[in-house]
Amino acid sequence: MNSTKFKSKVLVTVFMVTTLVTIPLSSLAQKTSPVAPNRVAIEAAVKEAYDKFKSDTGGKNADYIPYLAQVDSKLFGIAIVSTDNQMISMGDTKYSFSIQSISKVFSQALAMSEMGQAKFLEKVGSEPTGRAFNSVFAVADMPTHTGNPYVNAGAISTVSLISAKTADEKWSKILDYYSKCAGEKLVLIDEVYKSEAATNTGNKALSMLLAKYDRIYADPFESVDVYTKQCSVGVNVVQLARMGATLANNGKNPATGEQVIKAEDVPYILSTMTMAGLYDGSGTWAWHVGLPAKSGVGGGIVAVVPGKGAIAVFAPPLDEAGNSVKAQKVIEYVARKLDLNLFSPGSVGLKPTE
Ligand code: DON
Repeated sequence: MNSTKFKSKVLVTVFMVTTLVTIPLSSLAQKTSPVAPNRVAIEAAVKEAYDKFKSDTGGKNADYIPYLAQVDSKLFGIAIVSTDNQMISMGDTKYSFSIQSISKVFSQALAMSEMGQAKFLEKVGSEPTGRAFNSVFAVADMPTHTGNPYVNAGAISTVSLISAKTADEKWSKILDYYSKCAGEKLVLIDEVYKSEAATNTGNKALSMLLAKYDRIYADPFESVDVYTKQCSVGVNVVQLARMGATLANNGKNPATGEQVIKAEDVPYILSTMTMAGLYDGSGTWAWHVGLPAKSGVGGGIVAVVPGKGAIAVFAPPLDEAGNSVKAQKVIEYVARKLDLNLFSPGSVGLKPTE
């Protein structure tokens, strides 16, 4: 080796060593865990979205459940919880609203933890119905009748699958499970439950139709009653974001460290959310946002960013499909700003080549 070659070899080695020593530990950590990329950017995106959509007047409160019609339409809250348990929130973050259909994700998780994904798929299914969430036609038409765990029929069937000796035992098991996902004790909003229980003849009809096709696995009306209670559980946006972050964190609650949802079930749950989480709006949602999400007629939506965290938004006015108008806009805005769309290579840090 001549002396020039030797010198350049030494220089390269010195460069490599100094580079390795000077890379900050945090960026090394980010190579293996792309968690909570940039708090400042997230805070800015949330604030921009809040300001941009605060005065949006699109949509209308659900009114087929009388209680929901009189909730203040201007309530508006946003929360993000990351898988490393950082929290960013804005607006009406303490208001407790009924979780409604978002509950269906966590009952699906509970049922799957007891019976495994294969049996759950056979008993309930995971096909979008292409119909409204409370459609009787879908139950009659679809080969599975239940469709998926997020339409009312599939959700009532899911509740019927959860094991318990009595309806009361099943209800406390469900409430306890949701609480563990939220990392805090959740409670029933009694007025919502009473209001819905007094008006849920449609759901009772669905349960009897399921019985006709042998697609409900416990007493139909008892299952509807437990289902109505689960929909009436109160959450605020922070608690809801934490429930989403538990899914994002492979089933382990980032605040308590408890493995609540079975890690092996998480991909199945997120795929159901992607296909059916916003009912008839799921296709357009996937097109624009590209994140698994679930809505409820109470005005909440939670979207999950696997490995990173979850964003929850609460704003009562809904579109025709039953999804909060403002919540959809906020999540779309934040997801675009932060490049979170799972179908975009940008979500894993790949930038388009110029
Ligand atoms: O059974 C119902 O109709 C309500 N408890 C839940 C429906 C719902 O949240 C649909 N969501 N967008």
